[in-house]
Amino acid sequence: MIPALGVCYYPEHWPEDWWAHDAARMAEVGIRYVRIGEFAWSRLEPSPGDLRLDWIIRAMDALAAHGLKVVFGTPTATPPRWMVDKHPDMLAVDAQGRRRGFGSRRHYDFSHLGYREECRRIVQLLADAVGQHPALAAWQTDNEYGCHDTSYSYSPAALAGFRLWLERKYNTIDALNQAWGNVFWSMEYSRFDQIELPNLLVCEAAPAHELDFRRYSSDQVAAFNALQFDILKAARPDLPVIHNFMGRYTDFDHFKVAETLDVASWDAYPLGHLARSDESDDIKLQYLRQGEPDYQAFHHDLYRSVGHGRWWVMEQQPGPVNWADFNPDPLPGMARLWAWEAFAHGAEVVSYFRWRQAPFGQEQMHAGLLRPDSEPAPAYHEASQVAQELRQTGMAGVTARGKVALVYDYESEWAWQILPQAKGFSHGAQVRAVYAAFRKHGIDVDILPPSTSSFAGYSIVAIPALFTWSDALRQAVAEHEGHLLIGPRTGSKTPDFSFPAQLAPDLSPNILNAKVMRVDTVDPSIEVPVKGGGAVRHWRERLETGAEVIMEDEDDWPVLVSQGKLFYQAASGNRALIQRIVDYLIMEAGLPRIALPAGVRCRVRDGMRVYVNYGSKDTVLALADDETAYVLGSAEIPAAGVTVARLATAG
Ligand code: GAL
Repeated sequence: MIPALGVCYYPEHWPEDWWAHDAARMAEVGIRYVRIGEFAWSRLEPSPGDLRLDWIIRAMDALAAHGLKVVFGTPTATPPRWMVDKHPDMLAVDAQGRRRGFGSRRHYDFSHLGYREECRRIVQLLADAVGQHPALAAWQTDNEYGCHDTSYSYSPAALAGFRLWLERKYNTIDALNQAWGNVFWSMEYSRFDQIELPNLLVCEAAPAHELDFRRYSSDQVAAFNALQFDILKAARPDLPVIHNFMGRYTDFDHFKVAETLDVASWDAYPLGHLARSDESDDIKLQYLRQGEPDYQAFHHDLYRSVGHGRWWVMEQQPGPVNWADFNPDPLPGMARLWAWEAFAHGAEVVSYFRWRQAPFGQEQMHAGLLRPDSEPAPAYHEASQVAQELRQTGMAGVTARGKVALVYDYESEWAWQILPQAKGFSHGAQVRAVYAAFRKHGIDVDILPPSTSSFAGYSIVAIPALFTWSDALRQAVAEHEGHLLIGPRTGSKTPDFSFPAQLAPDLSPNILNAKVMRVDTVDPSIEVPVKGGGAVRHWRERLETGAEVIMEDEDDWPVLVSQGKLFYQAASGNRALIQRIVDYLIMEAGLPRIALPAGVRCRVRDGMRVYVNYGSKDTVLALADDETAYVLGSAEIPAAGVTVARLATAG
């Protein structure tokens, strides 16, 4: 697969006599894919049944005339005003019971069956109208499911759907009472139609009630996507159906939604995401104009897994965005670096958002490749440089398989939000900490879903903070011949959100002879030093164990124990502790490391190692043992720079 550039374009925002010139300039930059259509419903169907599809076909013709390929977005994230008049109850209801209004976007409820029918109708009409257009290369379903907190709705439609879903799942009300532990606080039900949504209660709902509501809501997103996928695939079985997911967004199970996608994509806004993240002020300052160095890469690897190996960046930040509290200008070179990094992690396409900055509307302060006066913005030149460099290096193929894998699981994210026990404790934070520690040594990491049943080929697999064991994962753990790093909190619940009878981590003693007897959690500013370096913070477990103790804290609580090649981590730690644990495993497994200057990261694709410098200073690389020469850039890598080395053997 030869990587390519794309751009997001809104022909409906510009006079028709600009389209041909825009297309010519896109082609000049070296862009191959243009995404259109995803917010255009009011122009495609200004009133019910009044279809005006000819203009978008003319826009496709204009793009095709310059050899551009079209990604057609279904417009279902922006139902027009008349739709709300027709279905007033299609608007979602927030957790405080307030109906969310018309006047922005994503004003629909995933559970509303009437709106789903309207989506079926418009998607079918579009598939019929543009499905055979020669420029059409891919479909995008909707836009950013869940954006603006729209995965959960507490509406009558959601309540009706939830009750039905529960009845299908549990069959009898006794089974539900048992699973949810409803004898606690006399919460037992005698009929399914007595069950409410888990909002506006006096205090918290039963954890299993809340978790089932999240599972239900996630299933509605998957059903909504499946409906569109089926229509689009029937029209053009040969074209990929893609959805554009988001960064650090966990309210639905992306692996499940992607069961009806051919390619996953995500929208990468490194500076906006850093500004809105819970990173420390130091990190926010250090990487203000570059983005956090492991954040993009983590999502690239995650979405490669979500997309069954195939993924794109559908929207790439080109300059300042408009939606964080402050919106810094990226360092010169970052729009190039972010694209190169994505390609190194296997992206098929990196598509900049957007072609021309809009002078009107909510996003008028959001940069594009062109300024609002149509003159090139800095990213215009960086994009054309990337296009030229892709040709120069001849990069193709796929990203190399990692030697290390991490299991990432959306249910585990929900579970620890529902029952944190330590404010802020999250599955994702534990996973990302381990991920970053491996990447510091230039080690490529893959992300695996919880449905994985074999870890064959991986030297080290880490499973941090997993809510509950799936049968598949139990099997993979039992059969793995490499090293495993498990915990903290892994296997601490049953699927019904209770303690397992054997207690956490709920593995048979021949795999790991250890039980978590008690948990101690404190404010993350309080640290307990670990003998030999690093510190425990936030969460630690009191283990009863026959396994060998490798590290312990100053109170003599085991922090890392091992039984053969299985390591159990009984605490969360500061950066130094996680790095120390990961370094220990790398040494045990005998994995080669690359000496990377601070702020530099790398990834191998198609026999080439791509280095990116997230630091704000120029630095120098050393040619690694498996590298023969630099094919782009040199050992001197400037701030926001990219260097590509060729490997002796294709990787
Ligand atoms: C994304 C969205 C785009 C645009 C962009 C601005 O979340 O998909 O439509 O709003 O953000 O950064």
